[in-house]
Amino acid sequence: MTRTKNRGEYELGYHITPPKGLLNDPNGLIQFKGVYHVFYQWNQNDTTHNTKSWGHVASTDLIHWTEQPAALEPVDWFDKDGCYSGSAVSFENKLYLFYTGNVRNEANERESYQCLAVSEDGVHFEKKGPILKQPAGYTAHVRDPKVWQGKNNDWWMVLGAQKVDLTGDALVYHSKNLIDWTCTGSLLDDELDFGFMWECPDLVHFNQKSAFIFSPQGIMARGDEFNNIYQSGYLTGVFTEAGKFLTDEQPFKELDRGFEFYAPQTFQDDKGRQLLFGWMGVMEPAIEAAVPTIQDGWIHSLTIPRELIYADGQLNQRPAAELKQLRHGSPLVVEGKAEASLQLPTLQNEILVDWEKTAGSFKLQIRKDVDIEYDQHRNRVQVSRSNWLTGDRETRAVTLTKPLTQLHLFLESSSLELFVNQGEEVFSLRYFPEQEARTVDVDACETGKEPQITLYTLEN
Ligand code: FRU
Repeated sequence: MTRTKNRGEYELGYHITPPKGLLNDPNGLIQFKGVYHVFYQWNQNDTTHNTKSWGHVASTDLIHWTEQPAALEPVDWFDKDGCYSGSAVSFENKLYLFYTGNVRNEANERESYQCLAVSEDGVHFEKKGPILKQPAGYTAHVRDPKVWQGKNNDWWMVLGAQKVDLTGDALVYHSKNLIDWTCTGSLLDDELDFGFMWECPDLVHFNQKSAFIFSPQGIMARGDEFNNIYQSGYLTGVFTEAGKFLTDEQPFKELDRGFEFYAPQTFQDDKGRQLLFGWMGVMEPAIEAAVPTIQDGWIHSLTIPRELIYADGQLNQRPAAELKQLRHGSPLVVEGKAEASLQLPTLQNEILVDWEKTAGSFKLQIRKDVDIEYDQHRNRVQVSRSNWLTGDRETRAVTLTKPLTQLHLFLESSSLELFVNQGEEVFSLRYFPEQEARTVDVDACETGKEPQITLYTLEN
């Protein structure tokens, strides 16, 4: 994003960031009349999680974004304390936004209203107010409507919810006209005891299969899994015409293994691709309050756009092909070296690390801060960084199902997204290195297993 103001040393270039204030979830992702629209949760006033609007950017190529006026502002009785997350669909040449109106009533209790706003030009939106009632048996934590069109032109909506017994759930609604909605019950037939609240549910459809993506809160860490404050992941299965999701016999799988990834949303574009953006920001409150960009008046970013591919019973994520257009000049290629130190000419880079066959144990250090290590014997990839609040080293890791053949990195001044084996696993994170640290240090521990390293400079 092109910005005229000085936004400090940790400014991001090709990621979507707020012009000021705080950004969280991606919302309303859609390609409408040929133009890509990304909305996002936005506190315009400061870098806290107070009253949210919908920020808005648009693009014709998915990589260069232009700021648009805020699409929704929390100024009505049904959304006065926040226009919370939601989604977009296009119908009869109009853009429909579904979102949650967050209200604190006089007794300071939460009320949630699922609301609609409509636009003809994709820029100016007319609010239509609340459109549904929630069934009995749920608390006021019901939010984040995701709407899609199913077979027979029927419309479906899934809502993140909490039952009165304080367990997470997803509610399904059905409509013929996007205005009148009927609740068909819980998405899953079998109770899944999985946390206290499910945020940002989403259904993404491939040829024969679908995935139910959601962001459960209240899951305990277990080995390498679920180590962040909140997680995002998916179940695979089939969505039926009765509004039920019949799951495969596979456990919930995290979409991302890094430190910062939450509340992803998907959409299908005109090319038929399933694309995803996530929020690269979920953090423990004390760590969030210490993010250095706060001094520059802004905080957080979305991930790069990723294409979702369903293969072998799982979702793989690939950087959207358009990102190749950011490559500038000829790449630097390093081959046959067991050790190397590469200078980064700029702070926006893409790095491909390819092995002819499979990788040996290996270490890559990014700007003297982030270590990416591969242990061939355990077939495990580990990423560690310095926590910017405590200074401690912290790690995230995953054991792969196939041997390592490729690492693909997208770097910015303060973000890193690592795609492992063509997106079988992804790690997303922020990091805040010293300005002078501008090397990538490679240590291919085993001779005969030296990778080919290709370093591109990116320009947006
Ligand atoms: C997820 C979330 C959503 C909510 C929004 C508020 O990060 O908590 O459930 O709609 O953020 O900003």
